[in-house]
Amino acid sequence: MGSFTKILIASLCVVYIAVKWSTPSFDPESLRGARVVVTGASTGIGEQMAYHYARFGAKIVITARREKVLQEVAEKCLSLGAQKALYIAADMASESDPEKVVDFAVEKLGGLDYLVLNHIGPSPFSMWEGDVEHTRWLMKVNFFSYVQMAWRALPSLEQSKGSLVIVSSLLGKMTSPFTVPYTSTKFALNGFFGSLYHELSMKKSNVSISICTLGLIDTESAMEKVRGVTNVPAYPASEAALNILITGATRQLNLYYPWFTQIITILKDWTPSLTNYLIQNSYNYNP
Ligand SMILES: NC(=O)c1ccc[n+]([C@@H]2O[C@H](COP(=O)([O-])OP(=O)(O)OC[C@H]3O[C@@H](n4cnc5c(N)ncnc54)[C@H](OP(=O)(O)O)[C@@H]3O)[C@@H](O)[C@H]2O)c1
Ligand SMILES: *[C@@H]1O[C@H](CO)[C@@H](O)[C@H](O)[C@H]1NC(C)=O
Repeated sequence: MGSFTKILIASLCVVYIAVKWSTPSFDPESLRGARVVVTGASTGIGEQMAYHYARFGAKIVITARREKVLQEVAEKCLSLGAQKALYIAADMASESDPEKVVDFAVEKLGGLDYLVLNHIGPSPFSMWEGDVEHTRWLMKVNFFSYVQMAWRALPSLEQSKGSLVIVSSLLGKMTSPFTVPYTSTKFALNGFFGSLYHELSMKKSNVSISICTLGLIDTESAMEKVRGVTNVPAYPASEAALNILITGATRQLNLYYPWFTQIITILKDWTPSLTNYLIQNSYNYNP
């Protein structure tokens, strides 16, 4: 083995140990009885997060638009071990529903430990053809409702030394075709909550913020869009969900799931032309 290889392997080991050592360990007991709100919990990653919180014995409020589906998810949460599982139907494009959900949860659960913001409105996977109204609507659902809910929940989270968990995307760090409005909403989230993190930290707030950068996850809504269009690998929703729970419970600022989304985030600005080439060629597109 050459000395360069030895040094490389040794450095990688040091980095690995440093990362493992600095990552706080997750205590599942910390979630027993925790008071949690999960948005967008009728399906996909949000539904899986509700089931994980249930298995850890949390008290949960779930929300989305479809009441009937929420009822089924809540029943399953109870059967999995949730101490409480309540649901409230809400449309996050509405002016008043986001705050209504927080008030409902604080009242029914007697406070709040985790606000997990995860919902997204449906958006077409296609080139942007000037639909400003859709972009405005999506901004309300995917961004402004997050701002409203976070602000409404902050006093309760301060009291409980709670956590704000934001489900974002690699597309909140890196631009990409076919999802122009969606990407905009995720960049807005990263900008807002990344900045708010500084302010809470400078004020020595009791509240932790976690911003989760996800790659492609195998939820129905995502798979339906990218099937046959890209060969980017999709990762399991249940595992993504568990990683988000742990990131919130250990009060870490960032999650990158799968792990290589962090590498992409770091490398993209070093090699912009190569990155742009790879992005545009990861889709089957024939004009
Ligand atoms: N899947 C991926 O590949 C991927 C990749 C990166 C990041 N993410 C992020 O992960 C999170 C979850 O994604 P997902 O794939 O699990 O999404 P999903 O399966 O499409 O679920 C979206 C959820 O939001 C709810 N929702 C939609 N419109 C709403 C509205 N107007 N008001 C209130 N709730 C609404 C839906 O329920 P109703 O229809 O009942 O309202 C559903 O529960 C999102 O933040 C997404 O950006 C996903
Ligand atoms: C943080 O929590 C402590 C006690 O747990 C409380 O006394 C204090 O007021 C909280 N801070 C804020 C800013 O609410």
